[in-house]
This record gives sequence, C-alpha cells and structure tokens, in this order.
Amino acid sequence: MARRLATGLDKNAGSAGNVRMGPSQIRSLPVIGDREIAGLSDVLIDCVEGGASVSFMHPLTRAKAEAFWRGVAAGVARGERVVLVAEEETGAMLGTVTVILKQPENQPHRAEIAKMLVHRRARRRGVGAALLAAAEKSAFAAGKTLLVLDTVSGSDGDRLYARQGWRRCGEIPDYALWPDGRFCAATIFFKFPRA
Ligand SMILES: CC(C)(COP(=O)(O)OP(=O)(O)OC[C@H]1O[C@@H](n2cnc3c(N)ncnc32)[C@H](O)[C@@H]1OP(=O)(O)O)[C@@H](O)C(=O)NCCC(=O)NCCS
Repeated sequence: MARRLATGLDKNAGSAGNVRMGPSQIRSLPVIGDREIAGLSDVLIDCVEGGASVSFMHPLTRAKAEAFWRGVAAGVARGERVVLVAEEETGAMLGTVTVILKQPENQPHRAEIAKMLVHRRARRRGVGAALLAAAEKSAFAAGKTLLVLDTVSGSDGDRLYARQGWRRCGEIPDYALWPDGRFCAATIFFKFPRA
C-alpha cells in the first residue's frame, strides 16, 4: 500500500504561495506498478506534447515513456529515488516529481529534484507548488540538506522554483533541446530544505 506523506503537507504547500489543490492529494510511491506506470506515462507524454524540455524529443512514444518510468521504478525499489504524485480523489494522476537521493559518496547530503511534471489539464491551480513543497519535505526527511535542480530559463518551472525560495546560480546557454530540436538555456537552482 502506498505511503502517504504524513506531515501537514497542505499546510506547508499553502504557506509557499498560491497553492490550493482542491480535492487532490499528494503521496509517495514506495512501489511503482503497472497502474502507476500508466499514469506517470500519461503525464510525461502530455508534457512533452505540450512542448516541455524534459529529456525527451518529439514524438515521445508510450513504449519509451513506460520504459523510462520502469527504470525510475527500479531506482525507487533500490531506495535511490522518491517519486511523489498528485492525484484526484478518483485516482487520476495530475502530476509528479522525483527526488534523486543517490549521489556520489562525497555528496551524501545532496539530492536532486527532477521530472517535475503537471498534466496540462491540471496546471495553474497549485499542483506544481504542492508537489515541490512535498519533494523538499521528503528530501529533508531523508537527511538531505542541499537540493539542486535545473530548468529551462524563463519557463513555468523557473518561476515556480523562484517563488518557492530556490536561489538561482546562473544560466547555461544551449543546455538542452526543446522537443522540436531547438536549443534552450537552463537555469541552475539550489535550496537548503527545512522541516
Ligand atoms: C512547471 C509546472 C510543473 C508548474 O505546474 P503547475 O501545477 O501549473 O504550478 P502551479 O499551479 O503551482 O503554479 C503555476 C502558476 O499558476 C498560478 N496559480 C497557482 N494556483 C492558482 C490558482 N488557484 N488560481 C490561479 N492561479 C494559480 C501560480 O501563481 C503560477 O503562476 P505563474 O506561472 O504566472 O508564476 C508545469 O507548468 C509543467 O509541468 N510544465 C511542463 C514540465 C516542465 O517544464 N517541468 C519543469 C521541469 S524542471
């Protein structure tokens, strides 16, 4: 059975900005099975179809998306990652974020935030902010005192991270590609998470 985040998540997310989530909730996935792979793939495919630069090019096939999440699931099973999801009461998946716990042995205090994805139908109602707050809490609970991430400069993600207190380190031009092949710049962020 999936473990639910127990520590006042909604309250925390609310304090981070305009993040009301309505009837949806966030939980971590200790096991990622076929149902979760399907929902996570729906969200990833929708984000790439919407033009997000999140590691994949157009067109992202379901087979490729599912293979990606199966790899993530294996990492979760090894305790190397935490995957959080936002779901409606019906169980429909709205969004996800990953905390990459496994780092080189000289950086045991650091984690990376990745694959922050919200389905286009669920955007602009605080799901992303709540997922990010939950990811920070989860990382802190796992003993991480430094978080890092990169995101496309000037993107919705860029604003989300800045709004939630992440600090910009700088921008790297031509860091990645948009799904259609154009270059995009990335901004590197860090944050010291708190309880
Ligand atoms: C980045 C992303 C995760 C944000 O998700 P989201 O759920 O839309 O995020 P939020 O709802 O918390 O915030 C988005 C905007 O809605 C606004 N908002 C939040 N709740 C709101 C509400 N109840 N009413 C009106 N506006 C609201 C926020 O203020 C924010 O405004 P801004 O973008 O003008 O600054 C989403 O756009 C996404 O998945 N993008 C594609 C993938 C991607 O690029 N991910 C980042 C990779 S690092």
